Order: sequence, then C-alpha cells, then structure tokens
Amino acid sequence: VALTACGGGFEAPAEGSAETTGGAGAPEAETVFKVAFNQNADQPEAVAMTHLGERLAERTDGRYSLEVFPNETLGAQKDTVELVQAGTVDFALVAGSLLENFNPDFVALNLPYVYDSQEHQEAVLNDPEITGDLYTSIEDQNIRVLGGFSAGTRSVYNSSHPIETPEDLAGLKIRVMESDTNTRMLELMGGTGTPMGQGEVYTAIQSGVLDGAENNESIYANLKHDEVAPYYSYTKHLMIPDLLITSPEAFDSMSEEDRAVFLEELQVAFEESSELTAKVMTESQAAAEEAGAEFNEPDVAPFRDAVKPLLDEKLTTDTAKDLHDSVRAAAE
Ligand code: GCU
Repeated sequence: VALTACGGGFEAPAEGSAETTGGAGAPEAETVFKVAFNQNADQPEAVAMTHLGERLAERTDGRYSLEVFPNETLGAQKDTVELVQAGTVDFALVAGSLLENFNPDFVALNLPYVYDSQEHQEAVLNDPEITGDLYTSIEDQNIRVLGGFSAGTRSVYNSSHPIETPEDLAGLKIRVMESDTNTRMLELMGGTGTPMGQGEVYTAIQSGVLDGAENNESIYANLKHDEVAPYYSYTKHLMIPDLLITSPEAFDSMSEEDRAVFLEELQVAFEESSELTAKVMTESQAAAEEAGAEFNEPDVAPFRDAVKPLLDEKLTTDTAKDLHDSVRAAAE
C-alpha cells in the first residue's frame, strides 16, 4: 500500500478505499481511521480493534470506523510512531518500550518482572489513578496514549541450547525492542541485546546475525521463529504492554460525544483482547512444540536478581519512581 498524504488522515477516504487498501475489512463510514499494527490480522489486538471499528460505525451512525493495517504494512512500530506524529496514520499499536524514547518515565510500565500476572498488568494499564499524567505527557510531541493491551509474557529463545541460568546466555546475541532499557536488561541477564524492528528478526537469526530473540509464545510461533531458534526458555522476564497511540489532532477531530463512545468501546476491546491473548499464548506454545520446538522452565530467581540494578538505573525521576510504586502496590 502506498502511503499517501491524505489530509492528515482526518478526511473521509475515497469511496471503497477500505476494500482496495488491503486492511482488515473496515465497515463503511464517512471517516475510516487507519490503525497501524505489526502482527497479522488474526492476532487478539487486531481482532479487538476491528470489532471496535464496527461498534464505532454503528454507534456514531456511520461517522467513524477503523481499518487495521496488519503485518507492518504501514511500517515497523518505530516508523508508525512517527506516522502518527505526522498525522499520516491516525492510530498505532506500539510496544510501551518505544515511548521511553519520548518520555523516559514510560519505563515504569516496561521494567522486567514488574507485573505478577496478566490480570495485574491489565489492572494497571487502564487505571487513570495509576497512570496519572503519563499518557498525555507527550502531547507536545503529538502523541497521546489512549490505553494499553497486555501482550503476554516474554521469554528468551535461541538457536543453540536451552537457557537454564544467566551464564547460559553468555556470548549470545539476542534481539530486543528498540529501547536502551531492553539492551541493558539483556546485558544484565548475561547476553548481548541487539535492538531491531520485529520484521527483520527471522532472517537475522537464520543468517546467524542473531542467536535468538525474546518474545511471547504467539510471536515465536506465528512469525515462525521456532524454525530458526528451537530453544524457548521460560525466563518470563518481561510483560511489555502494547499501547494504543493517536495524535491529539486526530482524536480531537471527533466530537466530544463520539470520543466518549470511542473510549467506552475501547474498554470493551481491552477485555476482548485480554481473553483472546491468554488463549492464543497457550495455543501458540502447543503449536511450536508440535513443530519441534523445545520448551524449558529455568529457575527465574537468578534472572530476577540479575536485572535488579535496572530499577535504580532507570527510575531516575520522582514521577517514574512514584509510578513504579503504584504499579507494584496494585499487585498486592
Ligand atoms: C510483541 C508486542 C509487539 C512488539 C513485539 C516486538 O509482539 O506485542 O508490540 O512489537 O513484541 O518484539 O517487537
């Protein structure tokens, strides 16, 4: 799909464009907002956003709907943040880590072992009492966060051997998301972190540029990383949320009433995705195992201890520290 400047994405697209653009089948509406997504259209967040678009079209009498562009069609996550800032794309689902590059306080939502469970994470992400001003803190950079999806739990996988201890990661180059926190985390865990966009990972492991990566079971199985890195070790070190971002201009182009409808239906989308996510992770694990991948359960305590210095290194402002405390308090 060629990216055309479409009046900041705020105008109604040409008739029938939803059919011709290869997105996930948006309902007709005067304005069809573009949603950038890096995984396939069957993934929980894409499904939930597509259904959200349908409800939005219905409840706004056809004024608005959403079209999800999956598979990095609009670019890798890092690029799609810029497209949202520029007004070329209206919404994007991006890993929380990427927003640390705009406001380092976001790190409080992205640290290793900060959440005890998917329920804990979900209770945090969409509670304004906890997130406070964080989600509107980068509006001066044209980014507004509307809320967060749980994207499962991430563990390391590689092409050479099962990881039982941090020592087993020595000498291994492991792909991480594009934030300094992730690079440093992998170093503390015993390996070498190499930041990279998701789309390049398979080939990089296949060609030996990387030894492996770290991600949830769904990415592992669905992007076929299990073919090139058959050892998946449950270090369970990260639960990085996927945040739904927009630009203030795009979002506020809707009337107050329509915005309220959107936000109300977004809560339903979070719930739908949550249920699907838990299911998809279990199914993906089984599919990868069936295809020959080997899963092992190391003792996570040594990994948890190894990454502890990250807390002091990364929680450098009062806001970040308070946020981290609130996140932890929500676990108890
Ligand atoms: C997960 C997450 C994505 C992220 C990806 C990655 O799938 O949901 O938002 O892009 O991991 O590792 O890049």
